[in-house]
Amino acid sequence: MKILLTGGAGFIGSHTAVELLNAGYDVVIADNLSNSREKVIDRIEKIAGKRPKFYKIDVANKEELSKVFDENKIEGVIHYAGFKCVPESTKVPIKYYRNNLDTTLTLLEVMEEKNCNAIVFSSSATVYGDKNKIPYEETMHTGDTTNAYSSTKLMIENILQDVTRANPNMSTIILRYFNPIGAHPSGLIGEAPQGIPNNLMPYITQTAVGIRDHLSVFGTDYNTPDGTCIRDYVHIVDLAKGHVSAIKYAVDNKGVNIFNLGTGKGSSVLDVVHTFEKACGKEIPVVYEDRRPGDIDCFYASVEKANKILNWKAEYNLYDMCAHSWNWQKNNPKGYDE
Ligand code: UFG
Repeated sequence: MKILLTGGAGFIGSHTAVELLNAGYDVVIADNLSNSREKVIDRIEKIAGKRPKFYKIDVANKEELSKVFDENKIEGVIHYAGFKCVPESTKVPIKYYRNNLDTTLTLLEVMEEKNCNAIVFSSSATVYGDKNKIPYEETMHTGDTTNAYSSTKLMIENILQDVTRANPNMSTIILRYFNPIGAHPSGLIGEAPQGIPNNLMPYITQTAVGIRDHLSVFGTDYNTPDGTCIRDYVHIVDLAKGHVSAIKYAVDNKGVNIFNLGTGKGSSVLDVVHTFEKACGKEIPVVYEDRRPGDIDCFYASVEKANKILNWKAEYNLYDMCAHSWNWQKNNPKGYDE
C-alpha cells in the first residue's frame, strides 16, 4: 500500500516514514523543504533500508500535487504540510491561514479527483483550548484557540468533518498530538528547527551542545507542584507508530475518528530539564523568567481511546526521550546542515 506524506520531510513526517517503511508500506513524500532538508531522505533510507520517493513540491500547487497522484497509486495520505510556529503565527496570521488552509484544500480536491479516500491529519492538543478539565478526552469541547496556528488546526478539523460527511467512502483520522520530543534511537533523524528554537526540547539540546548559553524557564509560579508548566511529552517514535496504527484503522473504518496521541502522564519543565541532565551527564544552565504569554499551567492526554481502538500505546519513558534527543543533537550539532 502506497502512502503519501505531505510535509513528510519534517520532524514527525520523517519518523513516520521510517515506521511505515518498516511496516512494509511504500512511502511517497511531498515537501517544499520550507522548514526541512532533503538530506533527511538519505537518512530515512539508511535506517529503513528502503528509500521513500521524494517530490520537492508545494502541496498547495494543484498541478504539481496532481502529478504525484498520477505517477503513484496513492491509497492513503498523512497530511502534515503546514506552518507550525505558534509565536510567528501571532505576528503573521494571514500567512498561516493562507498556507495551512490552501495546502489542505488543494489536497482534498486532488484526493477527490483521484478517488483517494483515506486521510490522517496531523492535529494538535491545542484545539482543546484552555477551558477543559484534564486529562483531555476526544469528546471534549474544542475551541478557544489563542493563536492563528491553533485556529488553523481547528479549522482543518472542521473542514475534514464536512468533507467526510459529504463522501460516504471517506476515512478520516484526526490525530491530536501532545508534545512530541525525542529522536530516532539511531541518532540519524531528529528535530532540526531553523533559527532559535521555540519549543522546550530543542532549546535544551542546543544549550547542552553549546549553541545557546542557557535555557530560559518561562514561569515558576504556575499552579503545579514545582511551579513550572506540565505537559504530556511523547516520544517521536511512539508518535510515528501511532500513525501506522491510524493508517491501518482507516482502511477498514469510514467516517471521522479522532485520537489523542500522548502518554497520559504529565511532566513539568523542571522534570524535563533534570531528566535531560541525567541523560547527558551535564548541567543545563537555567535562568528563571516570567511566564510566556498563552501558556496553560497543566495538560495531558487521556489515551484510553487510542489504546483500545488503535491498539496503540506509547512505550518510551521521559529518560529515553531525553537520551535520544541528546544522541541526535550531539551527533548532528547543526541538524541536517554540515
Ligand atoms: N518552555 C520554556 N523555555 C523554553 C521553551 C519552552 O520554559 O525555551 C516551556 C513552555 O513555557 C512550556 C513548556 O516549556 O511550559 C513546553 O513548551 P513548548 O513550546 O515545547 O510546547 P507547548 O506546549 O507550548 O506547545 C506544544 C506544541 C505546539 C502546540 C501546543 C499546544 O509545540 O505545536 O503544544 O498547546 F500548539
